[in-house]
Amino acid sequence: MCSNFNNVFSWIILLFGSAAKFRFYKTFTDYMEVPVETPDAVVASSNPYVDVNKPTYLIAIGFNFKLEGPLLTELVPALLNLGDRNVCLVNWVNEASAGILGEGLGYALNALPNSKTVGEAVGKGIVKLVNLGLKNDIHFIGHSLGAQLAGYAGRETIKHGINLTEIIALDAARLGYEPPSLYQYVDKSCATLVYAVHCDVNGYALNITLGHVDFWPNFGNYESSTSIRLQPGCLKGTTLQEILTNGNRCSHDYCYKFYVVSLTNPGLFVGSKANNYFQWKTISNVNANNTNFIGPLINPNRPGNFYFVTGSTNPWGLGANGLQPPTTT
Ligand SMILES: *[C@@H]1O[C@H](CO)[C@@H](O)[C@H](O)[C@H]1NC(C)=O
Ligand SMILES: *[C@@H]1O[C@H](CO)[C@@H](O)[C@H](O)[C@H]1NC(C)=O
Ligand SMILES: *[C@@H]1O[C@H](CO)[C@@H](O)[C@H](O)[C@H]1NC(C)=O
Repeated sequence: MCSNFNNVFSWIILLFGSAAKFRFYKTFTDYMEVPVETPDAVVASSNPYVDVNKPTYLIAIGFNFKLEGPLLTELVPALLNLGDRNVCLVNWVNEASAGILGEGLGYALNALPNSKTVGEAVGKGIVKLVNLGLKNDIHFIGHSLGAQLAGYAGRETIKHGINLTEIIALDAARLGYEPPSLYQYVDKSCATLVYAVHCDVNGYALNITLGHVDFWPNFGNYESSTSIRLQPGCLKGTTLQEILTNGNRCSHDYCYKFYVVSLTNPGLFVGSKANNYFQWKTISNVNANNTNFIGPLINPNRPGNFYFVTGSTNPWGLGANGLQPPTTT
């Protein structure tokens, strides 16, 4: 039954096109928007919002996101402050919303199918922009369902001979993407470099190695289905409602918070490599040859799963002090 409704929504989108937009920021409040299907105005000469000779950092975030919400108000200025890049949001705020359907149906019938439809439209839009002269150096930061959208965008550009430079998959959404599923989760076939950060493991996020490089902060809290399953500093709700929202949401949001902090403190989120967490717990010879970093210091030539622990308060990352497994009591 659900898939019939999915099809109806897909048809509506096919008939009318996706209404999603690219929002290119000069500052957080000064931006230009163009439809992803017809983005041509972006590359017009002397456009103050875009420098076609610079790399572009695309952002897509997840279900029910807010254009002025905490994620974008932290991430967009942090990227703009680094300079030397275009910063662009995939504004799919309506396509990602629950709307009048409510949370469950809104996710299943609107946001979930749109993560694919809009992702593919965004991929085609990127191809247009690159063919019109935008530098072929596209970095795509996706959180939750936005990470899955980025995967679809990347697969689409590859079909047209353009490979995204990187996809940064922050807590890629689990619901609807856990196999077996109609939907294909983001993986390392979607861009030249795909790296994933896993925070709300098996809550809102997939518990699957996705990228060339995968980071598993505080995975000891997610070792088993009976583990606490919270990032440090997140509180476990006492009512079902709190457990489903505040606790998991807090852990889910740590993934983008870690990334935002890494932009200005690139050494804080460093992990050491292991085949899995159980092997990592026995590691004693951590050295510069088996570590990798979330953020600007990522080493694309060092694939694998990387584990570390963090503190419980901002800025969370402990640098080299987080590389040792917590001592078991
Ligand atoms: C682009 O990605 C595809 C799929 O991963 C790969 O086969 C191809 O070699 C890549 N092209 C370039 C130019 O890197
Ligand atoms: C995640 O997967 C690992 C490896 O299969 C497993 O050991 C762990 O229990 C899983 N975590 C959760 C919270 O399901
Ligand atoms: C790291 O790798 C390089 C090259 O293989 C090697 O020369 C060096 O000794 C290694 N360092 C450590 C600390 O193992």
